[in-house]
Amino acid sequence: MRFCLFGTVAVVALLGLLAPVANAQAGYRMVGEPIQITNGLRVNLIKAAGNNTFGNAVVPKAWSGEAANLTLDAEFQSNYRLRIKRLSNFFFKVFNNTARFEVPLKVNPATGGNQNPLYDIQFTNEPLFSFRVIRRSTGTVLFDTSPGDFVFADQYLTLSWTPASENVYGIGENEQYTFKHDFSQNLTWPLFTRDQPPNHTANMYGVHPHYTVLENDGNSHSVVIVNSNAQQFSMLSGPLIEYKTNGGLLDFYFFLGPTPEDTVKQYTELVGRPQLPAYWSLGFHLCRIGYTTIDRMQAAVNRTAFYGIPQDVQYGDGDIKYKYLDFTYSNETFPGLPEYVRELKAKGIKFVTILDPFISSGEDPEEYRPLKLGNEMDAWVKNANGSYVLGKVWPQDPVYFPDYSKNETKEWWKTCIKEFHDLLEYDGIWIDMNEPANFDNNNTGSICSVNSINNPEYTPQIEGGYLAQQTLCPDSQHAAGNHYDVHSLYGWFESEPTLQAAREGTGKRSFVLTRSTFLGSGNWVAHWLGDNWSQWSNLHTSIIGVLQFNQWGIPFVGADMCGFLGNTTEQMCQRWMQLGAFYPFARNHNGGYQDQDPGWWGETVANSSRKALMVRYTLLPYLYTLFYKSVTEGGTVARALWHNFPTEEETRGIDRQFMWGSGLLINPVLEENATSVDAYFPNARFYDYYDGSEVATKGDFETLDAPLDKINVAVAGGNVLPTQEPALNTELSRNNPFGLIVALDGEGKASGSLFYDDGDTIGTIPNEAYFLADFTVSNKTISSTVVKNGYADMSSKRLTTIRLLGQEATVVGVTVNGEAITSFSNLPTGEVLISNLTAILTTPLLITWLEN
Ligand SMILES: *[C@@H]1O[C@H](CO)[C@@H](O)[C@H](O)[C@H]1NC(C)=O
Ligand SMILES: *[C@@H]1O[C@H](CO)[C@@H](O)[C@H](O)[C@H]1NC(C)=O
Ligand SMILES: *[C@@H]1O[C@H](CO)[C@@H](O)[C@H](O)[C@H]1NC(C)=O
Ligand SMILES: *[C@@H]1O[C@H](CO)[C@@H](O)[C@H](O)[C@H]1NC(C)=O
Ligand SMILES: *[C@@H]1O[C@H](CO)[C@@H](O)[C@H](O)[C@H]1NC(C)=O
Ligand SMILES: *[C@@H]1O[C@H](CO)[C@@H](O)[C@H](O)[C@H]1NC(C)=O
Ligand SMILES: *[C@@H]1O[C@H](CO)[C@@H](O)[C@H](O)[C@H]1NC(C)=O
Ligand SMILES: *[C@@H]1O[C@H](CO)[C@@H](O)[C@H](O)[C@H]1NC(C)=O
Ligand SMILES: *[C@@H]1O[C@H](CO)[C@@H](O)[C@H](O)[C@H]1NC(C)=O
Ligand SMILES: *[C@@H]1O[C@H](CO)[C@@H](O)[C@H](O)[C@H]1NC(C)=O
Ligand SMILES: *[C@@H]1O[C@H](CO)[C@@H](O)[C@H](O)[C@H]1NC(C)=O
Ligand SMILES: *[C@@H]1O[C@H](CO)[C@@H](O)[C@H](O)[C@H]1NC(C)=O
Repeated sequence: MRFCLFGTVAVVALLGLLAPVANAQAGYRMVGEPIQITNGLRVNLIKAAGNNTFGNAVVPKAWSGEAANLTLDAEFQSNYRLRIKRLSNFFFKVFNNTARFEVPLKVNPATGGNQNPLYDIQFTNEPLFSFRVIRRSTGTVLFDTSPGDFVFADQYLTLSWTPASENVYGIGENEQYTFKHDFSQNLTWPLFTRDQPPNHTANMYGVHPHYTVLENDGNSHSVVIVNSNAQQFSMLSGPLIEYKTNGGLLDFYFFLGPTPEDTVKQYTELVGRPQLPAYWSLGFHLCRIGYTTIDRMQAAVNRTAFYGIPQDVQYGDGDIKYKYLDFTYSNETFPGLPEYVRELKAKGIKFVTILDPFISSGEDPEEYRPLKLGNEMDAWVKNANGSYVLGKVWPQDPVYFPDYSKNETKEWWKTCIKEFHDLLEYDGIWIDMNEPANFDNNNTGSICSVNSINNPEYTPQIEGGYLAQQTLCPDSQHAAGNHYDVHSLYGWFESEPTLQAAREGTGKRSFVLTRSTFLGSGNWVAHWLGDNWSQWSNLHTSIIGVLQFNQWGIPFVGADMCGFLGNTTEQMCQRWMQLGAFYPFARNHNGGYQDQDPGWWGETVANSSRKALMVRYTLLPYLYTLFYKSVTEGGTVARALWHNFPTEEETRGIDRQFMWGSGLLINPVLEENATSVDAYFPNARFYDYYDGSEVATKGDFETLDAPLDKINVAVAGGNVLPTQEPALNTELSRNNPFGLIVALDGEGKASGSLFYDDGDTIGTIPNEAYFLADFTVSNKTISSTVVKNGYADMSSKRLTTIRLLGQEATVVGVTVNGEAITSFSNLPTGEVLISNLTAILTTPLLITWLEN
């Protein structure tokens, strides 16, 4: 591995340009030369005299517990993965002689060795210590820490750096108005999990100190900081990124790509990849708080079916509970719910229900087993004095908060979830309020005492202004540490045991939906974008959220269709049902306002919803195959256009359109009363999904007609998309014939895959109990290779239809495995429709066509 010290011509010259460094800058100086360690370099640093003056902090400030000495380790973990970790030295402690907090993130080793790294790292000591990460092949500086203060104190750590370009995406969870950051606005994005509806920069439910950069030449890298403390990123004009946190370490991973999808694969290799979703969970989900009675729940399900709208999942929200107690249902307002759940299952509709992370302390433990068992197992988060923390949330009495970082609590939770299945045969579990939310921590016996943990020297610009607001006191005790450090890990600790329990309870793959997420949550859970607003602007921002979570390794994500907070309108709901039909996770959910299930509106919304959802259901084999790829290779399912077209500059700012994999482009209407949409088409062949005609525009915007009942969707040339005839739910559609959409690129080629299995068994991939075929198309020939034939039922399925898009000359003959067939037609739009096939998929297929 190469490194350069200050004094080399190149480094000094560049620093002169890059670093308008104030003399009063705070920082460190390197002692001696970098030392070779296993797989990397170590740099020893000592504090340099200086003031903390960067950004708005014009007043010089000395922070308590500033580390006199620091160690920086740069580990060359693989050719594409670099870790830079700043450790306090052994003598540097925080919080009264407890060791400095480190996130207990399980990380996987990188593969492929580090003999030919894509990066160089350079260190300099002038005027103070800084380092740069450089892409070797192009010389692009990806990360340069020379501007700004570098402070490492007890409760204040800061570092600033120059990114490689202004094409920076990510950092959250907040409500970003544009996917690409706008550095001219100098916005600060605080990160600290919070029960917070979207409000621009306000910190929300999850914490992802992760961003992706598209370098100007189309290469891409991403950066993640493994830190769970309250923190913030300021995206300043320059561009410049200023990072501040009140604890933990500065622990950076760089993923060198070089393609955007590679960065996601490399990141998910580190933190873990998603579970394969249950097939049914890719269908349409219907939910609301405030059915208030089982009749109203049934009425919503009935009218969905009445209008022929597919539905795979019905939810029970908090109002099904008895006194808002977890693991109960109210037999007063939801009498017969267990029987109804079984009735739904018989029709092929699954049931998902909600659990909150708090247990009422006011019940008689002899009557309420979750309380009794939790007390016995000492399952609750404690105050600094050892008593249990009490909070106020939905139940009428004060609640305890389970400490999910503790083994006994995980066992308690799993036991309760498994036993709950005996009462109500749920298919999946929805975990909410797990930031954790607390409506008022000051009125229920847990007023925070005044100490350096509860009142730190530095607090990022979080909503509410102080750490305890709407949650627990920072000095509350979890097995994994002070609440101060583990606050943003609460839902993360809850996620894995919930999935394990849901699987043990159902015996199936199951499904867990969570509100709060952290690095690696995608291992276990799906995510919805929280309590969004029934406002038009939220259609647009939902796309940005979906794209971000895909980059963060949580591809199973969507926003509440028609909006959660406030009454929606007919047209908004109509457009949102169309957009949401293309979220990886598709759920209509309502926060207690006027009904908004698609059947409630009558024909308008119902018909548009059915049309859009039928497209989704037709494409479910493609979507499922994309999820299979995200499980095995780790890339995204939904992605921005620039992930597929990184060198097309116009794509970099596009966040009103998005793609499924490389094959499908979705062009929704996001504005009230609009009946057309300006859609960008990259410089490649694209085809209208509905009629198969080729889009004439290439590398430019085109205005598409978008009447109220239509969402525009296009297929990208070069792709083979597997399909299946839709039905009212996936239990039914899974019996239907398959099809292929073959969309030719400029060379008459295409490729794709079909992954399929029983959809609900745990472990079909490791157990090889699945079917996988690859399709390649060239020279007027479609051929398939059966890669895995481990799903017995696949041999009974038939491929009946092929939509061939982009074949210019008239087709005059088609052969299937050598036999000529006559059931094909050249449609006026240019599509060639091959139908009435009876091909089996489990043996190799060879289809050729002859043109005039
Ligand atoms: C820090 O700021 C103080 C007050 O402005 C100034 O007197 C002092 O010289 C500064 N120290 C350095 C190292 O710049
Ligand atoms: C910090 O580093 C300096 C210079 O290497 C050394 O003299 C000093 O002993 C170190 N201090 C501690 C607390 O390690
Ligand atoms: C952002 O900060 C830069 C540099 O301080 C300043 O020139 C610019 O006006 C600021 N922009 C906004 C929108 O505040
Ligand atoms: C959003 O935040 C702003 C600024 O803190 C506040 O004034 C406003 O009330 C918030 N809006 C909502 C809807 O909560
Ligand atoms: C819903 O439909 C079922 C079956 O058709 C019927 O038994 C039930 O009464 C209906 N419920 C409501 C509330 O409409
Ligand atoms: C409903 O709840 C009441 C009161 O708890 C109980 O007595 C009754 O057995 C319950 N009925 C059913 C069907 O569970
Ligand atoms: C908790 O369980 C894990 C996994 O079973 C085990 O490795 C760990 O040692 C346990 N921790 C404690 C404190 O018992
Ligand atoms: C709650 O406690 C914090 C200190 O822990 C205090 O700053 C805040 O004002 C209190 N809030 C209310 C509503 O009393
Ligand atoms: C640290 O210890 C000192 C002395 O024992 C005590 O006064 C102080 O409150 C403690 N601080 C914290 C944050 O626990
Ligand atoms: C929402 O709609 C309901 C029913 O139409 C109405 O009663 C209520 O006032 C509306 N609420 C708002 C906030 O507009
Ligand atoms: C949409 O049309 C309705 C009915 O004409 C009108 O009331 C509303 O203001 C329009 N909305 C926008 C954003 O133009
Ligand atoms: C394309 O197919 C034709 C007819 O099957 C064959 O004659 C020709 O060699 C093929 N060309 C290539 C490049 O494979």
